[in-house]
Amino acid sequence: MKVSVIGVGNMGSIFAEKLSEKAEKVLLVEKVPEKLARFKREPFEIVDIETAKLSDYIVLAVKPQDASSILEKLKGYSGVLISIVAGLKISTIEEYGILKVARVMPNVGVRVKEGVLAVSYSEKVRSEEKEGVKSLLESLGLVVEIEEKHFPAITALTGSGPAFVFVMTEAFLDAALKMGLSFEVARDLVYKLFEGSARLLFETKEHPAVWKHRVTSPAGTTIEGIVAMEKSAVRGGIIESLLASHRKALELEGK
Ligand SMILES: NC(=O)c1ccc[n+]([C@@H]2O[C@H](COP(=O)([O-])OP(=O)(O)OC[C@H]3O[C@@H](n4cnc5c(N)ncnc54)[C@H](OP(=O)(O)O)[C@@H]3O)[C@@H](O)[C@H]2O)c1
Repeated sequence: MKVSVIGVGNMGSIFAEKLSEKAEKVLLVEKVPEKLARFKREPFEIVDIETAKLSDYIVLAVKPQDASSILEKLKGYSGVLISIVAGLKISTIEEYGILKVARVMPNVGVRVKEGVLAVSYSEKVRSEEKEGVKSLLESLGLVVEIEEKHFPAITALTGSGPAFVFVMTEAFLDAALKMGLSFEVARDLVYKLFEGSARLLFETKEHPAVWKHRVTSPAGTTIEGIVAMEKSAVRGGIIESLLASHRKALELEGK
C-alpha cells in the first residue's frame, strides 16, 4: 500500500513517521527542503504532487490557506484523500472532483501514539477503504467515526482539549510547589495522576461521578477539596472554556 503526505510540517511529519509503520512506501511532498532532511531513508521517498497522485491514500497536512492550490493540482484524484486541514469541509474537497474523502481532526497526542482522531467520510468511500483509513490512523491513536456536523464540537473537545488539560496540570504543579514539593518530584506524580485517572475511566467505562464518590470519604480530605472546587466554580469554568472554543470553531466554519 502506497501513502503520500503533502505538507511535512508539525503534523505532517508525525503522520509520515507513524504511517511508515503500516505502509510499504510513504511518499512526501513538501515545499521546504530542510523539513525533509530526516526522511532521506526507506520507506520514504520525496516526490512531486503528480507522483503522489498515484498512491492509494494521500494525507493533506498543509495550512488551510495553502489547501486550495494543492486541491487544484489534485483534481480528479481517485484514491482516498485524508484531510487534516482544519475547517476544510468534505463538500469543498468534492468540488475539485475528489470524491473519496476522509476528514480527520487529530490532536497533539498523536506524537506519542495516544492521539484522538475523529473521522468523517464522504459518501463515495467504500467500507473496505474506511477500514484502510482506520488501520492507517490507528498508528497514531484512537480513531472514532463521527458525523461531519460535529466537527466544531470535536475541535473544541479533543482538538483544543489538550491545551485545557495542560492548564489544569499546571495548576496542580503550582499547588504542589506551594506545598513545598520540588518541580521534579511533583511533575512525575502529577503526570501519572492524570494518566492513571484517565486510564481508570477509560478501562472501566464508568461515569467519573462513580469514581469520585468511591474516593470521597465522609469528613475527609477529599470532600474538603471538592467543596472548595465547587465554591470556585471550577466545573462551570471548564464548561465555559469548552463552549467558548466551540463558538470559535463554529465561527470558523461560517456557522
Ligand atoms: N498542529 C496541530 O496540532 C493540528 C491539529 C489539528 C489539525 N491540524 C491541521 O494540520 C494542518 C497542518 O498544520 P501544521 O501545524 O502541521 O502546519 P505546518 O507546520 O505549517 O505544516 C504545513 C507544511 O506544508 C508545507 N506546504 C505548504 N504549501 C505546500 C505545497 N503547495 N506543497 C508542499 N508543501 C506545502 C508548509 O511549508 P511552508 O511552511 O513553507 O508554508 C509546511 O511545511 C493544518 O491545516 C492544521 O489545521 C493541526
